Amino acid sequence: MARTLAISMLKGTGACIAAIALTASATAGDAAKGADVFKKTCASCHTIDKGAGNGPLGPNLFGVSGRAAATVPNFKYSPAIKNSGIVWTDDKLTAWAQNPQKVIPGAKMVLIHAPTADQANDVVAYLATKK
Ligand code: HEC
Repeated sequence: MARTLAISMLKGTGACIAAIALTASATAGDAAKGADVFKKTCASCHTIDKGAGNGPLGPNLFGVSGRAAATVPNFKYSPAIKNSGIVWTDDKLTAWAQNPQKVIPGAKMVLIHAPTADQANDVVAYLATKK
């Protein structure tokens, strides 16, 4: 009995470590730092909280991570993003947060102070916590 328990505990630990490693490689960013990046470089146009309504210039970003692009109700998207067929994976979001036009030419999001690659990773990790 005790032996079986020990083995299953060991197995459990192994699975846990594997899960942590996977998570770490999938989201390299630091969500706490990302919250700060969001405030400084995204919040002038976007809201992020659930049910907050759309921002002054951009759509609400709650739950955007992993979702199909251009699906927030009551936001007038550009034809470019509506027809993009993009699903917001972490990779796509990271690229978008640095240079939207490179991901979807003709999209109407303009970044005056584009985040660095590290800041983009962090902000994407932050977006992933908001769902
Ligand atoms: C100057 C205003 C502005 C700033 C600053 C801005 N955005 Fe946007 N964002 C927009 C607009 C406008 C759109 C809609 C684009 C379109 O319709 O082509 C958009 C769209 C998006 C989308 C797609 C949403 C969807 O529903 O598909 C994401 C994701 C996004 N922005 C993330 C960010 C992040 C992250 C930052 C900060 C690094 C940021 N934005 C900064 C204006 C802005």
